[in-house]
Amino acid sequence: MWRIGIEIRFRRYLSDDGEFRMDTNKAIYTRRSIRKYQNKPVPMELVKEAVKAAMFAPSARNQQPWEFIIIDKREMLDEIPKFSPHAAMAKEAPVGVLVCLNKLYEIAEGFFQQDLGAATQNMLLSLHAAGLGAVWTGVYPREDRVGGFIKMLDLPENVVPFAFVIIGYPEKEPETADRFKKDRIHYNQW
Ligand SMILES: Cc1cc2nc3c(=O)[nH]c(=O)nc-3n(C[C@H](O)[C@H](O)[C@H](O)COP(=O)(O)O)c2cc1C
Repeated sequence: MWRIGIEIRFRRYLSDDGEFRMDTNKAIYTRRSIRKYQNKPVPMELVKEAVKAAMFAPSARNQQPWEFIIIDKREMLDEIPKFSPHAAMAKEAPVGVLVCLNKLYEIAEGFFQQDLGAATQNMLLSLHAAGLGAVWTGVYPREDRVGGFIKMLDLPENVVPFAFVIIGYPEKEPETADRFKKDRIHYNQW
């Protein structure tokens, strides 16, 4: 009974091994930015699973130039909006993940934003498929935000903060958005 309830409410599936699963396209089409959260802790296992999903993203020359810093200390989460004003929801969230570039792993110059963007999106989809809500808050290339994270975390010179993903159980299920625009698809010519 509870299983059916969960399936209906969150539109996801419980597989035979007891793990939550969601069809890939369904996850893509139903994911939204979640900025309001329940007052409930997020299991670290689900955060680690999302970080693992991020590491499976494609990257230029398979350079995998990423590092991830999980932040769940209340005083640190409360500090973040002071230098990243569009990340105000960090004050209400139990956890967030800072996606960073490690310049030491860069072998394909100029591609790191694409690599880290793909990794960040994988993370959002994994979190959504697990019933969590998340929002990508932009860090790089805003100097004040990049500098704020570097200072707060005392990051070494080769590590550059890229995006901060704020995570929590959604306060409510969001509306889906239909963004399909047929006229943006071109076949063999403009
Ligand atoms: C590079 C990037 C930076 C973003 N920065 C912020 C941000 O600082 N704060 C925020 O609340 N949302 C941020 N967002 C989320 C977007 O506002 C959101 O993805 C967009 O409005 C579409 O809504 P959806 O995610 O619900 O589909 C960012 C998204 C991206 C991809």
